[in-house]
Amino acid sequence: VADFKIVDSAVLQPGEGEFLVRGHFLSVDPYMRGLLRPKVHYLRAVEPGDLMFGEVVGEVIESHHSGYVAGDYVAGHFGWQEFAVSNGQGVRKVDPSLAPISTALGVLGMPGLTAYFGLTEVGRPRAGESVFVSGGAGAVGSVVGQLARISGCRISASAGTDEKIAWLVEELGFNNAFNYKTSKDYHADVQRICPHGIDVYFDNVGGEITDAVMRLLNRHARTVICGQIAHYNEDKPAPGPRPFPNLLAHEARAEGFLVFSYSRRYNEALPRLADWVRRGELRYRETVAEGIDQAPEAFIGLFQGNNIGKQLVRLL
Ligand SMILES: NC(=O)c1ccc[n+]([C@@H]2O[C@H](COP(=O)([O-])OP(=O)(O)OC[C@H]3O[C@@H](n4cnc5c(N)ncnc54)[C@H](OP(=O)(O)O)[C@@H]3O)[C@@H](O)[C@H]2O)c1
Repeated sequence: VADFKIVDSAVLQPGEGEFLVRGHFLSVDPYMRGLLRPKVHYLRAVEPGDLMFGEVVGEVIESHHSGYVAGDYVAGHFGWQEFAVSNGQGVRKVDPSLAPISTALGVLGMPGLTAYFGLTEVGRPRAGESVFVSGGAGAVGSVVGQLARISGCRISASAGTDEKIAWLVEELGFNNAFNYKTSKDYHADVQRICPHGIDVYFDNVGGEITDAVMRLLNRHARTVICGQIAHYNEDKPAPGPRPFPNLLAHEARAEGFLVFSYSRRYNEALPRLADWVRRGELRYRETVAEGIDQAPEAFIGLFQGNNIGKQLVRLL
């Protein structure tokens, strides 16, 4: 937390072709850990003294831009700040009649899209198959499991508290889940809850959970390498079991996946996700920290499992 500093400054005035946004919610996300390293391959680094990168949903309060009027709700990468001036690049309008605007950062935003494209395009589940998602009670994982359930799959997961396990099984319709923080043997627990093996593994965490799951892949299984949060704070890659013999033996596939590569297709997925939310088939939960000064703790809390569902910071 001491590495972050809250700075007061005057609110900028929007010029011609720009608008001013009052942020309502800020998203904190695991990928931000990678921005705080000197060099990252697919994301730009945030240097000491920079405004921290992040997506915000808020309301346009003054506009000199032909495409936006005061009262429009928008989401964009405005950074960790309460007000932002934008020229509209990379900004999308948010329809507040679909769902609360906070969902534009969660189930109807980047995490929901990650679940949708990662599962459908890389995991390609078929009805009756067995799907396992690690980090099952997070923003991405909770949507993955429900989409797999909607596709007619059997869905199992790992998560880090009994409260999370109960939410997945009792409210979201997961078939089973285990608490990896109290487990004595990951492999035995995954085997117990996936008696027919695993056809699709949606990996949000990596590490020892993944080592255990990879031993239980079925023939022609697909692994979606979506996140590796267990490794984000490591300075050196940890030595670990090598998964390739399992892929070889089961003629299985593992594929890295980045949601941003599907950005041209977001408009195809968002109405589908919104429809499932409206019909109550896709449920979501948010953990909301109050005020921008809580943003660093909320962000660090992601690595301690303090969030259920999507972690947000309320700005207004
Ligand atoms: N590829 C892409 O395009 C893309 C896009 C978005 C997100 N992601 C990745 O997807 C994953 C989930 O993101 P999210 O936004 O939905 O975050 P999230 O799951 O809502 O929050 C992170 C969760 O990870 C779990 N966790 C933290 N440290 C862990 C560890 N050492 N081992 C196992 N679990 C740990 C915690 O839950 P527990 O209580 O269960 O430990 C925590 O709640 C992240 O790895 C993220 O980087 C990838």
